[in-house]
Amino acid sequence: MAAQDYWHYPRTALADSVLMAFDSGLSHALTMFAPRRMGKTEFLLKDIAPRAEEHGWRVFYHSFMTDGDEAGEVFRLSLAEFAAGRMKSWLKPLTARVSADLLGVKAELGTQATAPAHSLTEVVQALTSSGKTILLLDEAQILTRLARNEELLGGLRTGLDINKDQLKVLFTGSSREGLRRMFSEARAPFFHFGTNIELPTLDRGFCAHLAAAYRRSTGRPLDEWRLWEEFEAMGHVPGRLRAVVEAMVLNADLTLAEAVALKVHDVHDEVQYAKILKALPLLDRLVLQAVLEGAPLFAEDTRTRMAATLGSAVPGTTAVQSATERLLRDEIITRRERGQYEISDPGLGQWLKALTSSQETP
Ligand SMILES: Nc1ncnc2c1ncn2[C@@H]1O[C@H](COP(=O)(O)OP(=O)(O)OP(=O)(O)O)[C@@H](O)[C@H]1O
Ligand SMILES: [Mg+2]
Repeated sequence: MAAQDYWHYPRTALADSVLMAFDSGLSHALTMFAPRRMGKTEFLLKDIAPRAEEHGWRVFYHSFMTDGDEAGEVFRLSLAEFAAGRMKSWLKPLTARVSADLLGVKAELGTQATAPAHSLTEVVQALTSSGKTILLLDEAQILTRLARNEELLGGLRTGLDINKDQLKVLFTGSSREGLRRMFSEARAPFFHFGTNIELPTLDRGFCAHLAAAYRRSTGRPLDEWRLWEEFEAMGHVPGRLRAVVEAMVLNADLTLAEAVALKVHDVHDEVQYAKILKALPLLDRLVLQAVLEGAPLFAEDTRTRMAATLGSAVPGTTAVQSATERLLRDEIITRRERGQYEISDPGLGQWLKALTSSQETP
């Protein structure tokens, strides 16, 4: 399936080094952080998964993105189903119970499942008894949002600990803060897991690859150097460039410049951004603005500028601290090393920048 996708630009070297680390027993768990739309999911599904299977691993991919409050439960059941599905013949009882669990959840999502549940540790145990597996856990930091997932995280941790050789895990996340929380907080002590690997920004080869794929599908030429200029201008976000090229595939009349202009404003995203901004208290918005400008959040002159907009006394460092914590918790901003902050979603950052400059120039 993945090999047929000629739009995909393989990250072969990175995938190979991850697999080497797992194959050789050097690593048991790795963490990959990158902002939104930078290609984490694509890397897991199209680079790691097929290669891992070639190396004799079974691969379980799970994204925690969409299941909201049920994220933990859905994960446990999906993993159980995966484990059971692989071991039908000799693990009938497990299969039967899992099906009951699944049916229970399907029927009563949001209420109490009635069937007796396997703990995650049991599921992991069952899984590893039948062969080696790589878990690709996408946006895993979502699990830390709810206190009730603590037990599940504990079970996962124990399962990984006991089965290091048979079970490897690659965590990804778009929130550095969320992953940091998951790895360092006492109740979910994953801290000795998760050596961090970088997902490098894509290079010119990506643009050459997209230009070739465009030629292949349309028979029309596309200047890869112009593509590269646009890619740089949009902050090296592959999802955005793909959207531009897709627009040009679908509409032969569009020039590159027109497609960029069309796609630079992703209407769906912008509605979301506007909602996020609207929901923030004024002080939080000002802290966000300061993050955008790279201003030191707690410095006196930053706070004095905030006061001017607030039309009140200069906010104290405690108030600014609380606002910062709220933004971190909601994963709107992310803590970098040495007290630096950044906006988690580069798209939101760009949108805010455009908004600010349009307000400054009358
Ligand atoms: N290696 C690649 N080759 C071709 N296209 C890519 C590649 N990586 C990413 N893309 C494009 O960028 C889009 C976004 O990538 P992806 O969904 O993997 O990002 P993500 O980091 O998981 O983002 P999110 O935080 O939104 O989940 C993909 O749908 C695809 O169109
Ligand atoms: Mg993703």
